Amino acid sequence: MITSNKTNSLQGEVILPGDKSISHRAIIFGALSIGKTVIKGLLESEDVYRTIKAMEQFGARITKNKNNWEVDGFGVGGFSSPESVIDCGNSGTTCRLLLGAIATTPITAVFVGDPSLSNRPMDRIIEPLERMGASFNARENSFLPITVTGAKEPLPTIFESKIDSAQIKSAVLLAGLNCRGETTYIEKNLTRNHTENMLNDFGVKVESKFLQEGFAHKLRGFQELIPKKVFIPADPSSAAFFIASALIVQGSNIKLFNLCVSPTRNGFLETIKEMGAKMKFSNKRTVSGELVADLTVSSSSLKGVEVPISRVPSMIDEYPILSIIAAFATGKTIMRGVKELAVKESNRILSMAKGLKQCGIEIEYGNDFLIVNGQKKVTGGMKVNTYGDHRVAMSFLCLGQAAEKPIELDEYSSINTSFPTFIKELQKVGANIKHN
Ligand code: S3P
Repeated sequence: MITSNKTNSLQGEVILPGDKSISHRAIIFGALSIGKTVIKGLLESEDVYRTIKAMEQFGARITKNKNNWEVDGFGVGGFSSPESVIDCGNSGTTCRLLLGAIATTPITAVFVGDPSLSNRPMDRIIEPLERMGASFNARENSFLPITVTGAKEPLPTIFESKIDSAQIKSAVLLAGLNCRGETTYIEKNLTRNHTENMLNDFGVKVESKFLQEGFAHKLRGFQELIPKKVFIPADPSSAAFFIASALIVQGSNIKLFNLCVSPTRNGFLETIKEMGAKMKFSNKRTVSGELVADLTVSSSSLKGVEVPISRVPSMIDEYPILSIIAAFATGKTIMRGVKELAVKESNRILSMAKGLKQCGIEIEYGNDFLIVNGQKKVTGGMKVNTYGDHRVAMSFLCLGQAAEKPIELDEYSSINTSFPTFIKELQKVGANIKHN
């Protein structure tokens, strides 16, 4: 059992893990290169281990050497047929990116996942990948378990996605690597661009342009990936929990290092700045094609805001923790256009709405919106259901530090999917979190 209790103040420096999205990609692109890729700062969490294990099953050799990870790749199209199922666990990124990566190589593989992943839609990637020649056999046409057979004669495609999703974009671009000719992916709003950045860093030209229809990303197939040394910055989605805690626990001041501040990921920082967060950025630089900075944040009096819908893709994983911050702000925080939250590791609109309501916070919600009416004092004193979702678990551990009475969680092992050292790091800066 775990409880999060009223905390005096958070002080000090935080060691944050590597970015989850970039970590998955570093392993995948390392495997798609011929030769050795060295990765510094890889996130060591359950989701990333799923990608490592899968790439080993497809033929890559992956080892840890002191603090670095090394990937000995097999090159584009060099996938071997795996002897057993590819178990993606809880990881949507592992599943969707790898289904894309193998869709244009003529092998067959069976993908499975845990109950949460098995209920997340896969038709969003099946549609473009079928157009490129892959065939799929999915439970109810959209869900895991899925058997995929990659195309013998892959066809490049021009795909205009109705959903803003970096996972769909990455699946299509990865499939395009093994197609003769040019693959184009068009998205209405720019989603996280780590795939494009890392491909460019590995020597593959991806051209990204703003057109009338949206952002178009174009890639010519059969370009070789050149192995690289990759430096992975700290994960802004994990950082958000520390930033939130510092904002809502009085008298706090913490510093975070090497934070990925890519414009495609900084919607949360923009939003809390509008709410009145006191933050100072320093040491801005570019590392492995990504914008990085250090950040100092201290407790602040906050006011509610309406988050622009155009900002959704750049903060999609931060809505749960934003809703916690909103509970401590004056007035309403309005989050609209968030229907994608319903198909994350849990239905995050519902998971957050239920927990917040239980803690005595006034909320309104629907299929694609969540409105939180902040209040001076948050009661707490509840046992909250995380629905097995790591970001819901971390969010309520943050809330407990500023609530009047402790918050207990029904489970917290889900946190291991993205941030196994979360509780330890939060305790180090002063969080009153207890294993009872
Ligand atoms: C991710 C993209 C996002 C995000 C997920 C990681 C990625 O999903 O929610 O945690 O690494 O590409 P969508 O692209 O489906 O929105």
